Amino acid sequence: MDSQIPQPLYDYRAVKMFTVMAVVWGIVGMSVGVLIAAQLIWPVLNFDTPWLSFGRLRPLHTNAVIFAFGGCALMGSSFYVVQRTCQARLVGGPLIPFVFWGWQLVIVLAAITLPMGYTSTKEYAELEWPIDILITLVWVAYAIVFFGTIMKRRMSHIYVANWFFGAFIITVAVLHIVNSLAVPVSLTKSYSIYSGAVDAMVQWWYGHNAVGFYLTAGFLGMMYYFVPKQAGRPVYSYRLSIVHFWALVSVYIWAGPHHLHYTALPDWAQSLGMVMSLILLAPSWGGMINGMMTLSGAWHKLRTDPILRFLVVSLSFYGMSTFEGPMMAIKTVNSLSHYTDWTIGHVHSGALGWVAMISIGTIYHLIPVLFEKEKMHSIPAINFHFWLSTIGTVLYIASMWVNGIVQGLMWRAYNSDGSLTYSFAESVVASHPGYIVRFIGGSIFLFGMLVMAWNVWQTIRNGEALAVANSPAEVAA
Ligand code: HEM
Ligand code: HEM
Repeated sequence: MDSQIPQPLYDYRAVKMFTVMAVVWGIVGMSVGVLIAAQLIWPVLNFDTPWLSFGRLRPLHTNAVIFAFGGCALMGSSFYVVQRTCQARLVGGPLIPFVFWGWQLVIVLAAITLPMGYTSTKEYAELEWPIDILITLVWVAYAIVFFGTIMKRRMSHIYVANWFFGAFIITVAVLHIVNSLAVPVSLTKSYSIYSGAVDAMVQWWYGHNAVGFYLTAGFLGMMYYFVPKQAGRPVYSYRLSIVHFWALVSVYIWAGPHHLHYTALPDWAQSLGMVMSLILLAPSWGGMINGMMTLSGAWHKLRTDPILRFLVVSLSFYGMSTFEGPMMAIKTVNSLSHYTDWTIGHVHSGALGWVAMISIGTIYHLIPVLFEKEKMHSIPAINFHFWLSTIGTVLYIASMWVNGIVQGLMWRAYNSDGSLTYSFAESVVASHPGYIVRFIGGSIFLFGMLVMAWNVWQTIRNGEALAVANSPAEVAA
């Protein structure tokens, strides 16, 4: 009888699919990144074709890496962590596959509509209203599964990783709904209900908190589970993690106006955004230090464990970008950095160094567990991937720093008669070598992702099976 067959404690089906798709979408999104990087060197690669042009492929890149690659990594790992730390099976029945397939549908629709030129024009929220509604439905289902599992937990305690995942899920829902409010005029076109400076403020309240809660809080949830797990040590300070959580969520939400310095936004709002951004350094570094110090007594493992290296180096990039961000938020610094490639360098030190590297470490940790294998097929290949990712990221961000400062200085140089010293075209010529270095760095990073795909494929197909398969009575971590 069915009821006599013990159900496995955990439901890993969606976790497996999300984890594999994170690798696939990572490759797709980064390939588009490499293509648009090449277009900035060789404009002929736009092929005079609208749907292959830089303007249409750029949002395709950002949506693919953030929502497809990052989203699959976050949804998969949160479904894994919430089960393990609550010692409970995922709740929601059919809602679980709906979250997976619904999210894949959103991604495919984005991949079709963005190159066709359908866009709301709001950065990181370009998708048109029917897709926005689908996103809302999938997200609500995601929240029901996640919080439903927390409610069914077998212990009173809620592990801190779930706090971060929970804040990410709730905040992204609010941000998405408020920022996407629009009046549709046809199936493929709508107009935002906001206008002027209010529109800009709402957009960057969304944009910055997408960084704070999607690209940061969600991945910190990953960090708080997988760093201690891979290091085989308890988190350094549980108390610090709670202070980290509350400080981060209460400060991030105010920092959005640093994207709108020297605009029509009231000056006091810009200054508030700047001050809050400076304060943000403290909780960000508190979290980074908490993650790093978790390795106390286990530093020697870095010599032999490339997965741990991915996780720890991602934390150093997190520390670096959350130092750089507050500096760029200072109005005088921003007057140099804004509109330049410095911003692009900052973005990718967070995106490649932090978001991608922590996800890669997490995926390498998860694949053998999910597919019941002893270990990843090739540890040297993980090590090779680690170096490709690190070198690729460093080339990318260093070239963009140089470009950014060169551009900023050239644009503000005046002659004694008040005329500009350089034309804009001259600054483009000066940026050319940096674009070549960025293209090389991006290609190296992408190559690393292909090495990973091969390793994951080999592990799933030919990996040595676990001596003792995950039994139904498997005890939670
Ligand atoms: C192989 C790796 C990658 C390459 C070659 C690459 C390349 C690029 C390029 C060329 C741009 C346009 C820059 C411009 O307009 O001047 C860009 C923008 C962007 N990329 Fe990437 N990228 C990569 C990976 C990623 C990843 C993994 C993420 C996120 C997790 C990411 C997030 C972004 C964002 C948010 C922007 C927009 C930045 C802004 O508007 O300030 N990228 N990328
Ligand atoms: C303490 C933390 C941080 C602060 C205060 C901060 C601050 C800033 C500032 C001042 C800008 C430039 C705005 C402009 O001139 O237009 C910026 C841009 C950006 N930052 Fe950060 N940053 C932080 C961390 C991060 C992290 C960890 C990431 C993650 C991956 C990230 C992703 C981005 C993106 C995507 C943009 C470009 C937005 C756009 O214009 O399209 N930031 N940030």
